[in-house]
Amino acid sequence: MAILDGKLVAEKIQLQVGLEVERLKAENGIVPGLAVIMAGDDPASRSYVNSKSKLAEKLGIRSELVTFPASVPAAEIARVIDEKNADPFTHAILVQMPLPAGVDPWGIIERIAPGKDVDAFHPYNQGLILQNRGRVFPCTPLGIMRLLDHYGIDPEGMNAAVVGRSFLVGKPMAAMLANRNATVTLCHSRTHGLAAILREAGLVVAAVGKPGFISADMVKPGAVLIDVGINHVTKEDDFNKFCPRSNYEAFKKKGAVITGDVHYQSFAKAAHYSPVPGGVGPLTVTMLMSNTVELCKRQAGIA
Ligand SMILES: NC(=O)c1ccc[n+]([C@@H]2O[C@H](COP(=O)([O-])OP(=O)(O)OC[C@H]3O[C@@H](n4cnc5c(N)ncnc54)[C@H](OP(=O)(O)O)[C@@H]3O)[C@@H](O)[C@H]2O)c1
Repeated sequence: MAILDGKLVAEKIQLQVGLEVERLKAENGIVPGLAVIMAGDDPASRSYVNSKSKLAEKLGIRSELVTFPASVPAAEIARVIDEKNADPFTHAILVQMPLPAGVDPWGIIERIAPGKDVDAFHPYNQGLILQNRGRVFPCTPLGIMRLLDHYGIDPEGMNAAVVGRSFLVGKPMAAMLANRNATVTLCHSRTHGLAAILREAGLVVAAVGKPGFISADMVKPGAVLIDVGINHVTKEDDFNKFCPRSNYEAFKKKGAVITGDVHYQSFAKAAHYSPVPGGVGPLTVTMLMSNTVELCKRQAGIA
């Protein structure tokens, strides 16, 4: 079993993105600009937004954060999006999800100009992906494709099972794997016989949000396991069920550890697996920067 090291691949991509940013500045006098819009004060969202801003700064991307209280009316968010759609210095717009209850996320997503939709959540961009004409791809599945490519894992002809059907991860992932000629089964909470489906899968992408959900008996020997899940384990009982003993010291010290959707005992059966943390996570934020530069180049007509 070999680890798919997302941190290493992310660092390599960051280096390339940083060079591209320098080239855009030197040769074209353009600084890629990312606007992040956040409403409410969800601590997880704030931490994601902070890590996005930090990485943008590190890579020379101009990032702007617009924050609103949870009580913000949808019309006010829409007004800022309209402003950023029209701003030539903003090449990429991200609205941090989830939005406060009462704000229709689809109305907000559809307000973003498709050419500035850095998360590729707009129905136009998701439609293009389904047609295998994608221009911009959601960051998590895009990072997974880059991870597979880095390790020379070609999905063509593989039986791939994607567990989870969110529009952020599972659905675009399934479409992108099908576009790369995998035979894809998209699984969800109503799927019958999940374990049997997974036991036939040479490639599993788990995006469920339940710790240790994919147990060793569900895994085909020699499979590739990609773990998207981010689960905070805070209870000792859960730690004992889902986490390896080697993390116990860290658990006791911090009072919590992060674990994925794939049970650690499954790794021994796999040919390759992505760990949590250090797998898909670092790639997601990196692909956001890569998408920002890509959108900037498109808007400037640069190949
Ligand atoms: N590493 C990263 O960069 C990154 C990025 C995004 C998300 N995540 C993490 O990935 C996980 C999933 O996120 P998400 O936003 O895609 O999830 P989500 O919107 O919460 O969707 C979860 C999916 O899991 C399915 N599911 C739930 N219980 C199931 C069961 N018993 N059997 C089979 N499928 C089941 C649900 O099915 P139904 O549709 O039938 O309800 C749903 O499609 C979370 O832990 C999230 O924090 C990580």
